[in-house]
Formats: sequence, C-alpha cells, structure tokens
Amino acid sequence: MELRNPFLRGAPSRIIHSRGTIALMSESSTPRIVPLVDLRAGALQPPAAAFAAKNRVTAQGVLPDALGRKLRDLRISVTDRCNFRCNYCMPKETFDKDYPYLPHASLLSFEEITRIAKQFVAHGVQKIRLTGGEPLLRKNIERLIEQLAVLRTPDGQPLDLTLTTNGALLARKAKALKAAGLHRITVSLDGLDDAVFRSMNDVDFPVAEVLAGIDAARDAGLGPIKINMVVKRGTNDHEILPMARHFKGTGIVLRFIEYMDVGATNGWRMNDVMPSAEVIQRLQSELPLVALVAAFPGETAQRWGYAKADGSFDPEAGEIGVISSVTQAFCGDCNRARLSTEGQLYLCLFAGQGYDLRTTLRSGTSDADLASAIGHIWGGRTDRYSEQRSAIPADTSGSARRVEMSYIGG
Ligand code: GTP
Ligand code: 5AD
Ligand code: SF4
Ligand code: SF4
Repeated sequence: MELRNPFLRGAPSRIIHSRGTIALMSESSTPRIVPLVDLRAGALQPPAAAFAAKNRVTAQGVLPDALGRKLRDLRISVTDRCNFRCNYCMPKETFDKDYPYLPHASLLSFEEITRIAKQFVAHGVQKIRLTGGEPLLRKNIERLIEQLAVLRTPDGQPLDLTLTTNGALLARKAKALKAAGLHRITVSLDGLDDAVFRSMNDVDFPVAEVLAGIDAARDAGLGPIKINMVVKRGTNDHEILPMARHFKGTGIVLRFIEYMDVGATNGWRMNDVMPSAEVIQRLQSELPLVALVAAFPGETAQRWGYAKADGSFDPEAGEIGVISSVTQAFCGDCNRARLSTEGQLYLCLFAGQGYDLRTTLRSGTSDADLASAIGHIWGGRTDRYSEQRSAIPADTSGSARRVEMSYIGG
C-alpha cells in the first residue's frame, strides 16, 4: 500500500506501512523502517489513585479549568470505524482495510462509559454527545443511550443527550434511538447534489438515503435536528445556497463548518477553507440574514436568523449557524471534554495525547477517586489550540502530532 507519511517532517516520496512500522522510501533508496507513530499508544497517566485520594477534588457540580472555563459538555466516541470515507476526515488512502482500528477488547464497555459519564455529570456536565467514527455502527448503541438517559445533574435535571451521525443508518434506527431516550440528533450532510455527496463520502452513498434518515428522525421526534455541512472551497461551496434553500422554514438548523486542520491525514491547506464571513456573504446575496445572540455560553456556532422584509428575524423561516474554528477561534469559553473509544480523556480536539482513564477504571478505583482524577486533569487544562493557531501560522508539513477526528469524535 502507498500513502503519504502523515507524521514526519519533509514529505517522503513514498511509504509502505503495516501494523507498528512504516517503511520510508525515496525514489532511489531502499526502504528505511521507522516506528509507526500511533498517537493512541502514548497515553498520559491520570494522577495516581493514592494521590487522587489524598488530594481529593470532590465533585461539586462546577469544575473550572486552569483558565476558568467550566466543564459543561462531554463528547463520547463509541467507535473509531465509519462506513463513509469523507476525504477531510478518513481519507481512503490511509483508512483502508489494513488500517489498525481498535480491537474490541480495547473499547470501553457501556457500563464503563456510563460510570465515567456519571462522574463528569457530578462535575457539571449538562450535555453528552455520542460520536464516532459513526456511532450508529456500534452494536446495541440503544443500550448505552438507555443507561445515559437516566443520569441526572446535581440539581436533578436530565442531560441534553444527543448524537452526531452521517445518517446512513438513521432511517432504520431513528425510532429505537428515541425510544431509548435520545433527545435530539445532528446529521452530517455536505451537499444535496447526489454526485457531489457520493464523491465526498467516497463510498458512493446516495444522498436520498440520508434525507430519508433525516425525515425519519423528525418523525420520531428527535428534534431540534441540526445539519452540519463542512465547506471545502472548490468541492462543495456551490452547495451552500441549495442547502440553505432546502432547509429554510423546516425547523432544521443548518450549520456551515470551516474545514479544519484536525488530525494529520487529510492534507489540509488554508486554500481549501472557506471563511464563514464569505459563506454569510454568499447567503446574504439571496437570503437576507440578521445576527442572533448565542443560545448558551461556549456555543460553537454563531447564529443567524432569516430576515423578514422589514429586516427583523423571521422565526418561521428559522436560523442557520456558522462554525468558524479556523478564522475566529472560540477557545475562550471552550467547555468540551472528549472521551475516546478506548477511554482516553482528551482536553482539546487538537491534542496529541489523552489521559488513560480506562486503566484507572479497570484498576478498581472508587467513584470518588475517579471523580478526583477527572477533577485534577480538567483543573490543570490550558489547551486553546485554535486561538494559538490564529497567532502562529499553521504547520502544514504534517509533522504535528494530533489525534484523528474519527478516533476522538467531532
Ligand atoms: P450543539 O449543542 O448541537 O450546538 O452542538 P455543538 O455545536 O457543540 O456540536 P457539534 O458536534 O455539532 O459541532 C459541530 C462541529 O463544530 C464539529 O463537527 C467540529 O467541526 C466543530 N467543533 C465542535 N466542537 C469543537 C471544538 O471544541 N473545537 C473546535 N475547534 N471545533 C469544534
Ligand atoms: N473539519 C471540520 N469538521 C470536521 N469534521 C470531521 N472532520 C472535519 C474537518 N477536517 C466534523 C464534521 C462532521 C463531524 C462528524 O466531524 O462536522 O459532520
Ligand atoms: Fe465518517 Fe463523519 Fe468522518 Fe465522514 S466525517 S468519515 S461520516 S466520521
Ligand atoms: Fe476547545 Fe481545543 Fe477547539 Fe479550542 S481548539 S475550542 S480548546 S477543543
């Protein structure tokens, strides 16, 4: 197999990889074996049980990090596999049949996930999002939803329980997800044109089936539904207006996402990014918009409402959002923690390493000590990658050690 080395500076011409090693080749030389840099292997250790017990951080419903940002949102990846191969996330050349996906034994069980989630909720988490890869590929995902749906915040409120999906299995599963206790759903959809959509998912999946999935989710009561469209200049930016026209007035909130330099395999270039300001300009040319205030602190999207003829917001027509992580970083109030499929806690989407909570969990730690370990980790958090990237030009050489979005979840 041939692929570009995602991790080493100075792109080699060709490499061959198998589990654990990379053979690096130049056109004229013989292969040079270098270790495969598997970010998942180099986990950070949470504070030792004895330390967490002695210096106990008790869960009190509010947990600020080192920059004062209070934990609110937990995103749980339930599988690193996906049935799509979107080029910006799981490019086919890397995520092929030889890719070392996590073995089943590495995955947290539903009981383990719920036990960890419970401690996060005690620390102030109000929203849980299930992600992947594609979360609907995880067998019996409804059983996990049932367990999470009964968790309550310290003041007795249910969680905002949601899930991000590519929609391929949604028509089949929407009813069961709702019955299990899922509140709402977000569907990734990068265009309405069938040829564009098939080419972006890179597995020739028809757009009509995703649209049927969205209808099924609406019929099942999984609202408010959000649609996430990653905009790549020159690839699907001509779909911005058709997507807006299609969802306007349906109660479904369409969000346009700037293509990010997340992971190390998608060959990100700034030229492919369409800044949200340009997206708004393009929409305004046909569909006048008014700025709306944020719905809650730390919201990823800037909200815009469709305007009436007098320039005021028209609630019947609804709203759209833009997520500008490249041109207008929103780290200042980032309240999101991420739990990987194998139980590593990541403090930032762009982090190179996570904290190995699975080992802590499997070593027989008490709930109080687990909560204390989480408290120490979040309490020391200073991550603000996107803000720093705005200040320092991005390293596009591919040398940065970053985890893949399919492993950690969007
Ligand atoms: P809602 O409560 O439904 O509004 O959720 P959300 O906007 O927090 O979550 P969602 O997963 O829909 O986020 C949409 C997209 O925003 C993701 O797919 C990412 O592309 C991007 N995003 C989400 N969280 C972060 C973050 O913490 N940092 C950065 N840089 N991008 C993020
Ligand atoms: N840039 C922006 N968003 C991305 N996603 C995945 N990769 C990227 C990227 N490079 C997000 C999309 C998708 C979700 C699963 O992850 O929003 O809908
Ligand atoms: Fe799968 Fe979503 Fe990644 Fe596309 S963006 S490859 S659907 S996880
Ligand atoms: Fe949060 Fe990191 Fe995203 Fe900034 S880059 S918003 S700190 S996840």
